[in-house]
Amino acid sequence: MILIGFMGSGKTTVGRILAEKLAIPQFDLDEKLVENLEMSISEYFALHGENAFRQKESELLAKYSHAQAVISTGGGIVLREENRKLLKNRKDVIFLSTDTNELISRLQNDKKNIRPLAQDKTPEEIQALLEGRLPFYEESASVIIETKNKTPEEIAEEILFQK
Ligand code: S3P
Repeated sequence: MILIGFMGSGKTTVGRILAEKLAIPQFDLDEKLVENLEMSISEYFALHGENAFRQKESELLAKYSHAQAVISTGGGIVLREENRKLLKNRKDVIFLSTDTNELISRLQNDKKNIRPLAQDKTPEEIQALLEGRLPFYEESASVIIETKNKTPEEIAEEILFQK
């Protein structure tokens, strides 16, 4: 199963719960990337640029997509056509659709994860980024889950119920 959605939509947290419930591993592509790049995502962006990051991210998706696991992706995974193709060919891609205002407030309050593409952005800029990506999430998903007013546990239950 692969979880997709915008930054801050809960892919990592929901993925962890799903993996526990299904008793299979969780692979978080952002975490794997940090291990693989041997530096933080923001350092990699600053040193090598977004394109190089997207290349590494796509390689990891291709590698882990064969695993019997819950895969939590980074929010930009749908930007490359090759990745959208891979996702569209599956039946277990879950888009965590989250209210824009909630996403903006989560991103602005998250001091733990430094996200180069959300850093120093106005709410209007974040909203524009989200709106531009929305069609890509929708076309790549097999299932769309509305997450508004639901806990990660409830979201995980709903995903398992749909399966
Ligand atoms: C990105 C999302 C991040 C991370 C990188 C770029 C994006 O992952 O991969 O900062 O372009 O949306 P999360 O969705 O886990 O925050």
